[in-house]
Amino acid sequence: MKHFIDINNLKKKEIDEIISLAKKIKKNPKKYSSFCSDKTLGLIFEKQSLRTRLSFNVGMQKLGGSVLELQSKDIGFDNKREKAEDVLKVLSQYIDCIMIRNNNHKHIVNLSKENIIPIINGLTEYSHPCQILGDFLTLQEYFKSIKKTNIAWIGDYNNVLRSLIHLQNIYNFKLNLIVPKEIFKNYKKEFQQYKNTNLNHFFDPILGTKNSNCIMTDVWVSMGEKNKNKVKYFKNFTVNKEIMNNASRNVIFMHCLPAKREKEVTSDVLDGKNSVVLKQAKNRMYIQQAILIYVLKK
Ligand code: CP
Ligand code: NVA
Repeated sequence: MKHFIDINNLKKKEIDEIISLAKKIKKNPKKYSSFCSDKTLGLIFEKQSLRTRLSFNVGMQKLGGSVLELQSKDIGFDNKREKAEDVLKVLSQYIDCIMIRNNNHKHIVNLSKENIIPIINGLTEYSHPCQILGDFLTLQEYFKSIKKTNIAWIGDYNNVLRSLIHLQNIYNFKLNLIVPKEIFKNYKKEFQQYKNTNLNHFFDPILGTKNSNCIMTDVWVSMGEKNKNKVKYFKNFTVNKEIMNNASRNVIFMHCLPAKREKEVTSDVLDGKNSVVLKQAKNRMYIQQAILIYVLKK
């Protein structure tokens, strides 16, 4: 049984296949319009979602499949009425795969180990692999050679970044993390596990973005985080024109969205000509479709 939990669980060959399939679906969607005609996807969101909810929903329908959004509480997925494993065993009698967004990565990992039904990680506090594979598709549309791509991540050490680091470890593109020292110190040990010559850390946004051809950021406080006080550490970390001008001439700006305007990014950058955020959002759908076909394929 195949699951889609984290990018570093996948082989390079599998990621290449998912990306290549997403490109084919994008080019010729009609060809895939009945690929999942007898399949049903269940969606469980324990946190808010616009893009992931819509891209899975519309994406599955365009493959000819059906979608059921299941409220965790309504179906008793909170381990109170019956064990989550038992809920999945019953779900698997009606539906073919399930996407879960929660605040408990370990729970998703443990459930996937039971191999009851294919599980897709739709974001946890630990990672956001669907987002980063979608972004990988977007990057490939802008840069011919992914190895020569020079990405700067400015902001928090969070779920989206972690999936990006997993991808970097497989494709070895240049990735500079520019994370405030007060935040970075908590992840130093984790970072060492992934460190390589193309993966570096900076404290200074100007130094870290020199020669970058892609600048990425995300909210400073992720959903479900209690420590809102940490925003004080991001004083010079707003992606603005000065930072964009400091990078390569044709630098693109990426953000998974939702964005907090004038916090992690200024409106002139978010809405500016170098911003590809809406393309990222659109590409989420082709990637979700490719991921669905990947996990559903026998
Ligand atoms: N980028 C992203 O996952 O958006 P949502 O939280 O709206 O799904
Ligand atoms: N890091 C953000 C991503 C949202 C898509 C969060 O977890 O809230």
